[in-house]
Amino acid sequence: MSERTYPVSPEWAKRAYVDDAKYKDMYARSVKDPDGFWGEEGKRLDWIKPYTKVKNTNFGPPDVSIKWFEDGTLNVSANCVDRHLAKRGDQTAIIWEGDDPTKSKLITYRQLHEQVCRFANVLKAHGVKKGDRVTIYLPMIPEAAYAMLACTRIGAVHSIVFGGFSPDSLAGRLEDAKSSVLITSDEGVRAGRPVPLKANADAAAEKAPVKTMIVVQHTGGKVTMKAGRDVWYHEEAAKVPADCTPEEMSAEDPLFILYTSGSTGKPKGVLHTTGGYLVHASMTHQYVFDYHDGDIYWCTADVGWVTGHSYIVYGPLANGATTLMFEGVPNYPDESRCWQVIDKHKVNIFYTAPTAIRALMQKGDGPVKKTSRASLRLLGSVGEPINPEAWEWYHRVVGDDRCPIVDTWWQTETGGILITPLPGATVLKPGSATRPFFGVQPQIVDADGKVQEGATEGNLCIVDSWPGQMRTVFGDHERFIQTYFSTYPGKYFTGDGCRRDADGYYWITGRVDDVINVSGHRMGTAEVESALVAHDEVSEAAVVGYPHDIKGQGIYAYVTLMAGVAPSEDLRKELVQWVRKEIGPIASPDVIQFAPGLPKTRSGKIMRRILRKIAENELGSLGDTSTLADPAVVDDLVANRGK
Ligand code: PRX
Repeated sequence: MSERTYPVSPEWAKRAYVDDAKYKDMYARSVKDPDGFWGEEGKRLDWIKPYTKVKNTNFGPPDVSIKWFEDGTLNVSANCVDRHLAKRGDQTAIIWEGDDPTKSKLITYRQLHEQVCRFANVLKAHGVKKGDRVTIYLPMIPEAAYAMLACTRIGAVHSIVFGGFSPDSLAGRLEDAKSSVLITSDEGVRAGRPVPLKANADAAAEKAPVKTMIVVQHTGGKVTMKAGRDVWYHEEAAKVPADCTPEEMSAEDPLFILYTSGSTGKPKGVLHTTGGYLVHASMTHQYVFDYHDGDIYWCTADVGWVTGHSYIVYGPLANGATTLMFEGVPNYPDESRCWQVIDKHKVNIFYTAPTAIRALMQKGDGPVKKTSRASLRLLGSVGEPINPEAWEWYHRVVGDDRCPIVDTWWQTETGGILITPLPGATVLKPGSATRPFFGVQPQIVDADGKVQEGATEGNLCIVDSWPGQMRTVFGDHERFIQTYFSTYPGKYFTGDGCRRDADGYYWITGRVDDVINVSGHRMGTAEVESALVAHDEVSEAAVVGYPHDIKGQGIYAYVTLMAGVAPSEDLRKELVQWVRKEIGPIASPDVIQFAPGLPKTRSGKIMRRILRKIAENELGSLGDTSTLADPAVVDDLVANRGK
């Protein structure tokens, strides 16, 4: 662990909303008097009917129930758009930067208002009502934000599916959400190459109950439109008025569903609600990024992930910010792209993932140093632990030793940032997410749930609720309780391991369950395993993560073939393609090892601990293998490691 620390500069302590003394004071108040603290904070939004109750939460056991601002009513799109019109109608709300560096667009708040209203009216014209689920499968184009906000305007619940997911993954999510309306586009573009979104959506619709498909024309690529089901968005938008009254929503009405992988079973539909989520997204965006009027803010995530929801769309727009939306990838047309975009749009705040930083770091300082980046003031990191070496490079080379880095820890389930530095308050330590945000009470427990005090290491729990917390798993509240509140009853268990140092700083060490984090994307090992065993020639599969220089973790799959099937290079390639087709490219195994047998206990349980050690090449610490049903399989796995 890095021992170097980076103090807050005097300029930052002065300009930021929060300095260290204020952090300590606000934090103490937030945990001592959550009703008072959040009651005040909630006023950052415009409420149709103000709330009188603030916090009403219970982590069980046995019941778990989470409600914030429950008797208030509001509308999210009115908070993200309409209320800014008087003061900043002509200010840019969204800067869109295309994959092609010659393409960009500025969308003002007034234009955003018109676009959101039109999209909302198109949805209404197709019968979408309050509470209906609308699935969005779009590339990073402004229409993705219009569609999200349009749903919130009429009280529909959006479920965004990342454009990199396969037709099967999309179909599963459509089905689980019982969503009959799908919004897609002809194609996406990444690094100059088209992504066949409409064709994928067509394949998904064969297996899922899609009644209406709204298709945004983006590249002009050729697609087939199915009569009676598919409509072009631009044709529909021309038929409807440019104004639409926002629906009055209760604070606890569902806002969106976002599917995320867990250690078992199919991806879960994480459900977020309206009031608490927006308060939390708005507050964290303001304080963590120290967002001030006029700042240009860029988060490189995709709207298909929670980071895109909270920190490209909802948090920034609730704050009347200018948010940049980038269609492309960091290394196209070349490795300077991010820094060129920063210079082109004078970006002040830049928020990205460690995997991107590591990939760019590998190319050396040259591509960074040939750009100015003088506009940059603050850097952010999210999605996985950032190794101190990458942190130092980000700070020294990208930020010219001038910009603090906020390493923000959170999850799809948490809705917004929970552990993070505040740039005017926190002495930074490379690799540490540092201290809890307001209202967040982390606790480290051992495997038996015993609370560990002081400097320690163990499993990370949060002991009380915060407004942005997920409320349930869509359609399966029991699974919500089981997954998050049963390991350590009465506490929210994050699934992460964590160390706390003598200064009370938190260092996230990674997942302690069967979830792997590949390039900041969560992948359940069980999902990859079931994709593999669905192949005719595979009899059994076990998947584990292993350290990967760029991706953080890579996917290592042990595959046992059906009797009589011979391992071959061709089959290995076919299995990789198979997983890409079943789940999507992000799930591609990095290593497939053909394994005649897997290490199992006498009761038939696969010993993943041993498989992990072999994948990590920690062959000296395989531990006791004598309890295995057949200890000899381990020798074979070691001898054929990686083959
Ligand atoms: O393991 C933690 C890791 O990402 C997981 C959450 O993934 P997801 O729900 O996809 O959300 C990602 C974006 C918020 C966590 O359980 N993680 C996220 N941020 C960090 C992190 N690990 C270490 N440091 C972080 N800053």
